[in-house]
Amino acid sequence: MSSIVNAQKDRIVEEKIDSILSLLTLEEKVAMCHAQSKFSTPGVPRLGIPEVWMSDGPHGVRAEINWDNWGYAEWSNDSITAFPALTCLASTFNPDLAKSYGISVGEEARYRKKDVLLGPGVNIYRTPLNGRNFEYMGEDPYLASKLVVPYVKGVQENGVAACVKHFALNNQELWRDHINVEVSDRALYEIYLPAFKASVIEGGAWAMMGAYNKFRGQYCCHNELLLNKILKTDWGFDGVVISDWGGAHNTYEAAMFGLDMEMGTGTDGLGTTTLNHYEHYYLASPFLKLLKKGEVDEAIVNDKARRILRLMLRTNMNSNRPLGKMNNVEHHHVARKVATEGIVLLKNKENFFPIEDREGLTIAVIGENAKRSMTAGGGSSELKPQFEISPLEGIKKRYKNAQIVHAMGFASGPSVYDQILPSPYDADSLKVEAIEIAKKADVVLFIGGLSKSHLQDCEGADRKQFELPFGQDDLLNDIMAVNKNIGVVLITGNAVEMPWLDKINGLIQGWYLGSIAGDALADVISGDVNPSGKLPFSFPIKLKDNAAHYFGELSYPGDSINQFYKEDILVGYRWHDTKKIKPLFAFGEGMSYTSFELSDFKLNKKTYTKGEQITISGTVSNTGIVDGAEVVQVYVGKSKSKVKRALKELKGFKKIVVKRGLSEPVQITINVNDLAFYDEAIKDWNLEKGNYTAYIGNASNNISKKIKFEIK
Ligand code: BGC
Repeated sequence: MSSIVNAQKDRIVEEKIDSILSLLTLEEKVAMCHAQSKFSTPGVPRLGIPEVWMSDGPHGVRAEINWDNWGYAEWSNDSITAFPALTCLASTFNPDLAKSYGISVGEEARYRKKDVLLGPGVNIYRTPLNGRNFEYMGEDPYLASKLVVPYVKGVQENGVAACVKHFALNNQELWRDHINVEVSDRALYEIYLPAFKASVIEGGAWAMMGAYNKFRGQYCCHNELLLNKILKTDWGFDGVVISDWGGAHNTYEAAMFGLDMEMGTGTDGLGTTTLNHYEHYYLASPFLKLLKKGEVDEAIVNDKARRILRLMLRTNMNSNRPLGKMNNVEHHHVARKVATEGIVLLKNKENFFPIEDREGLTIAVIGENAKRSMTAGGGSSELKPQFEISPLEGIKKRYKNAQIVHAMGFASGPSVYDQILPSPYDADSLKVEAIEIAKKADVVLFIGGLSKSHLQDCEGADRKQFELPFGQDDLLNDIMAVNKNIGVVLITGNAVEMPWLDKINGLIQGWYLGSIAGDALADVISGDVNPSGKLPFSFPIKLKDNAAHYFGELSYPGDSINQFYKEDILVGYRWHDTKKIKPLFAFGEGMSYTSFELSDFKLNKKTYTKGEQITISGTVSNTGIVDGAEVVQVYVGKSKSKVKRALKELKGFKKIVVKRGLSEPVQITINVNDLAFYDEAIKDWNLEKGNYTAYIGNASNNISKKIKFEIK
């Protein structure tokens, strides 16, 4: 559409909002700015202005919650498709799939009559202990930016707003509701904000959720710098800032520093009364009082109501929006495709994988995660799928000739929010049973990892340990003593310690894969699908090798009041690369059942100037015996600079399918302007002139070509 037509449309919308605003009383405008139930805000019934209905997010549409408490409403028509966790989506390195994911989850939200989907999450992976990493898109701002944009666009095509969260710096769950994050401007702009910025500027996100934590002394849900200056002024965000549930703390600040809609966790906004509780929210009667006393100008509530009406005209007041779809074959197909493309093969000694389905072969599938539901638990992203195919079911379905035997091996207890419930099983007998079946099997497939329980991959707390929980390391050692032909499938949203890595033959990083988990895993284990996933974050060997942990407690987790991001811009692979600390597995790493060769890579020029594009082209050859897909990754570094730099940073990538024996051309473009660093001295982006190096490879630790170029 031409920009003139767009401008005209915008003008019509704003005129419509003007005309509605002129009909609203002060009380009605204030009412729109806060919750009336756990997941809705009131409309204006006398004018037919609808309520706004929201749902979590981000991996599917959450089951209906009671009006006024966190219990599930027990509806029978709210079972949905569970899509793979966002870490898995990030591992696909496939923006087209992110678009399909966004469209599908948006269709389900629309069908379930939701106006706002509370997701996606793009907080950066800073520490492997963060309980919510599985809901985010990894450690690299460029990768997360490239995937969040199509996700947001896909959701919003349905007339459902994506609410990008948690803005910003909510990079740990421990003390999330009060910890004050101190971080340099440079790390803020270069690492922690780009995905949010892309979601607004390129994705056109209609809503943004403030984070629970503080940043530079002010709560993120009413943070002058983050919301008024950066989001609304610098990025021109015209949508609605929604608080995280219970994330507002002060009426004046909420009014003045950018919050538009206050949602809550406690049943009373101020924690003292249950009578007409929503009326006591900061942006409810206390706000009205300030407006009436003239301590806050009416223009402030008008701006909030304008934003909320704008969101409504895009969603529930847009009579042209589609009707949505739920649990259809296409959604299942997307869920399976994301899952299979996101699974990462990390070790494959003597072609352990794929495992052939043949008569006479006994495969011992050991581990609780082979059967455990991974859509239950985890906090607000918990889902009630119409069905969930477990890894064991998927494997049994696929393997018709081989004999599949299973033992739990370990047990972790049910996933209950904020509590640890013991498992009813006896750990010793589970182990004995597992060792017995391992002894008799030809192949052992250990399916373990973390779970969605408290202190695992779950909202509200961080992991307490880097190693695998529930005695899995010991169990693995005992199994290996009786059967050395063992492969491990890790179902986690986080990196874990792997003291047994040298002794196993195969390793698959399996993520939380949603409704079709088992089929997707069986696709890869059997070789029906050739794996092409790449890690969206580094796996350190030990916790101290991770940058946030290297700098001690004040860096992570802080002293409960403050924390300092001392690693600054050197997050993830930027740290491992620059400090030469070898990770166990590197960002961008992931194997295939075939082999690829990258050749003839070159840049279109030797020197560039501001505003130009760099075109990198070359050839990817599939030199193995099966079809496959490879992700070409382009990193750029600058050795001489006026500031400290990471050795290299991801600036472009492309996933490319290549049939066996064939070669495909590949082209990647980089905007020269995207090579700028955030210069604290001038408080702006600065494109340094001089020599740069492009690093081209298929993983951050596997660079096949380095090319020098210059910016003049
Ligand atoms: C979470 C949000 C979620 C909200 C509503 C909060 O505790 O941090 O991500 O959207 O609850 O469930």
